[in-house]
Amino acid sequence: MKFTVAIDGPAAAGKGTISRAVAQHFGFAHLDTGLLYRAVGAKGGDPVAAARSLSPHDLARDDLRSLEAGQAASRVAALPEVRAALTAFQRDFARRDGGAVLDGRDIGTVICPDAEVKIYVTASPEIRARRRWLELGGDAAPESLADVLAQVRDRDDRDMNRADAPLKPAPDAVTLDTSEMSVEQAIAKALALISARLA
Ligand code: CDP
Repeated sequence: MKFTVAIDGPAAAGKGTISRAVAQHFGFAHLDTGLLYRAVGAKGGDPVAAARSLSPHDLARDDLRSLEAGQAASRVAALPEVRAALTAFQRDFARRDGGAVLDGRDIGTVICPDAEVKIYVTASPEIRARRRWLELGGDAAPESLADVLAQVRDRDDRDMNRADAPLKPAPDAVTLDTSEMSVEQAIAKALALISARLA
């Protein structure tokens, strides 16, 4: 069975948490496509060469979740040649047997425009910044909440305004605003949308 779930949205909206829960519930494979761009940014050197030679070893680095890696990712992600180098891998993953969930920025719009389910997960910048700051350790985090908010806004701006594959909901995506939702509520909503499409 081929079945693709596309989950897109801005930084720290809850895509990762929802995607992992969806994958576990339905037994689908999960690809966090942001990790590909983070690994390209972290590799340094020529980003196009880095994207063309990306290996499992590059994806296993333990510094890919940092704020710096997020900023570097959104810079290299604006380069069309970098995006092109990562497209085939993502499309093959999406059509693997047994179902797949991919989360990112352009899954429903560019990578998998024919995905069976498309969800656009969002929340206000303030709430997303607070969630990311708590993930980074809250009061023990190296960055202040204000710094994290500034970086979230910076990355939103770059991701939404780039010429190639800008972040935006696909016309047929269901928007899930998680600002006022608990994690459980957001997951339940996503599971219900997918169950309805599978039925
Ligand atoms: O986890 P978080 O939402 O903070 O970011 P991420 O999903 O790891 O993505 C990091 C950066 O990679 C984003 O800010 C985008 O610039 C880029 N990205 C993209 O352009 N296309 C994707 N499908 C996924 C990520």
